[in-house]
Amino acid sequence: MDAPGGGMADEPIISIENLEKKYPGNGESVFALRGIDLQIGRGEIFGIIGKSGAGKSTLVRCINLLERPTAGRVIFEGRDLCRLSGAALREARRSMGMIFQQFNLLMQRTALENVRFPLELAGVSRAEGRRRAEELLDMVGLGRRMGSYPSQLSGGQKQRVAIARALATRPRVLLCDEATSALDPATTDSILALIKDINAQLGITAVVITHEMRVIDQICSHVAIISKGVIVEQGPVEEVFFHPRTEAARRLVLPEALQNLPLDKCDNLYRLIFNGRSSFEPVISNLVLHCGCPVNIMYADTRDLGGTAVGQMVLQLPDAEASRKRIMDWAAAHHIALEKLEDAPHD
Ligand SMILES: Nc1ncnc2c1ncn2[C@@H]1O[C@H](COP(=O)(O)OP(=O)(O)O)[C@@H](O)[C@H]1O
Ligand SMILES: [Mg+2]
Repeated sequence: MDAPGGGMADEPIISIENLEKKYPGNGESVFALRGIDLQIGRGEIFGIIGKSGAGKSTLVRCINLLERPTAGRVIFEGRDLCRLSGAALREARRSMGMIFQQFNLLMQRTALENVRFPLELAGVSRAEGRRRAEELLDMVGLGRRMGSYPSQLSGGQKQRVAIARALATRPRVLLCDEATSALDPATTDSILALIKDINAQLGITAVVITHEMRVIDQICSHVAIISKGVIVEQGPVEEVFFHPRTEAARRLVLPEALQNLPLDKCDNLYRLIFNGRSSFEPVISNLVLHCGCPVNIMYADTRDLGGTAVGQMVLQLPDAEASRKRIMDWAAAHHIALEKLEDAPHD
């Protein structure tokens, strides 16, 4: 079946090939991005994670050609964006909504007028623009705040307006650049839930840029890790999260507190990943009861997300090999991922 935009349904909605972006520097040029290859499937929530300065914003701005790559290709629904210009490029850009850390709302306009703005630019009639803006503000839970100005709204509400605005032109992709980085944890959760809803209900592909692993493990299906302008790892979230192969990935995936554990002095440390298990299931108690040996919880960062446990723990298992084997077997039988923490990262 043909997907919207003419491509085949199973081909990536966005395909980035050998993308490079360099800026003129003092004397020699500075590479912000180098040799980037990414395939983003239609309907995915695709995470891109990296430290500050890694090149995330540059990459997301190359995806909608706000920045022109200095080499390589950005293929959107089968068309090379670098070869488009004028109306065709504007139309492709309108197919990708974008939200930002600082919301970027027009302060002199109400929520409703902010959402209507891109429709005005696209030449949609006033009445139709208003109808569509109201519908979108309802959808993001701001039906009662349509007449409020940004200064009268909380951070989370401002981001909801920005999301409604980004969806106004019925995009097929939503680009989110650190969309929750200015928000507190509870508001972050609610905005991530909204993005997940939009993805599920409207089938919009989301590209989620962040420096926080918890954002990735809450909503993304796939993740790419960017370090110094290069993609160092990519794959399904469970795979990258559970088996980080590079030092850059380990640093992002393992929380700081965990990285500082004296791995060389503590033996038998294992990482236990919670992803998708019921939070009502007392995993550690069951493990101790069934295996008949104690474990020491060295670190825990787990959260309940609507009845599902996510996050990770570090356990110190007993010295006796037979006890450890009992625990490993029990964990395997219960589909619980236990990974030994190595002291030397295999980079
Ligand atoms: N317009 C620009 N001119 C020169 N250098 C830039 C420009 N934009 C970004 N850079 C450089 O590119 C690198 C990546 O920046 P950015 O994409 O903003 O990273 P991130 O979003 O991951 O924090 C940084 O070293 C930054 O200084
Ligand atoms: Mg950035």
